Amino acid sequence: MINNIIQQQIEYYRARASEYDEWFYRQGRYDRGEMFNTRWFNEVDVLKSALRQLGKFNDILELASGTGIWTQELLNIGNKITAIDASQEVIEINRYKLNSPKVNYHQVNLFEWEPNREYDLVFFSFWLSHVPPELIDAFLEKIYNSVRLGGKIFAIDSRYEPTSTANNHTLKDNKDIYVSRKLNNGQEYQIVKVFYQPEQLQTHLIKAGFQADVKVTDNYFIYATGTKVV
Ligand SMILES: C[S@@+](CC[C@H](N)C(=O)[O-])C[C@H]1O[C@@H](n2cnc3c(N)ncnc32)[C@H](O)[C@@H]1O
Repeated sequence: MINNIIQQQIEYYRARASEYDEWFYRQGRYDRGEMFNTRWFNEVDVLKSALRQLGKFNDILELASGTGIWTQELLNIGNKITAIDASQEVIEINRYKLNSPKVNYHQVNLFEWEPNREYDLVFFSFWLSHVPPELIDAFLEKIYNSVRLGGKIFAIDSRYEPTSTANNHTLKDNKDIYVSRKLNNGQEYQIVKVFYQPEQLQTHLIKAGFQADVKVTDNYFIYATGTKVV
């Protein structure tokens, strides 16, 4: 069951690569009208500002880097970025958009990934929500092993908010972690989507060994900073 969902998630994001940015930029099925879109972008600004406040880093690792929406923010605060994603299709979009010698891309299934070095900052946006809950602690342990002592993590994810997703996606309730997602052409995939409460995520991060601080924006996002202290 889990392996099947993990594979479907990979296939879903590969097939969605060229239309992925419509979600973040509130276009097409994700355009919920001016009031909700303004809210969304204001809250994105809160995330960007929190990220910038972390300071500058030499070596950054970005997990599930996608089409570069956040990789381009990381370029402002980092000298070198290692960007990992399972989809060659999103990697090519990211590479084309950023066109930066500072970013090194690797096509890797994160469920098979083993960290082989440490970074100053490990960043992952809209990724933890796709990790099946039974794998979350093991996955966070790998993240812990990829951060140097004194280094940081920064995570961003979705809050449970129906206007966050496409207008033809149904958010049944926030307990149902197996959800259906459609492409613009109607093709449907089953994926995992977990909406963490701040205290839940904090507990997982502390268990992994981080000193953690988890916050939410008014409607759409949950974000966390963590420091490896021991
Ligand atoms: C919701 S998107 C987030 C992308 C990017 N972080 C952002 O914020 O725009 C999830 C990303 O995870 C990638 N992904 C899905 N399953 C994966 C896996 N098993 N290993 C690595 N990446 C995976 C997808 O290709 C996609 O780029």
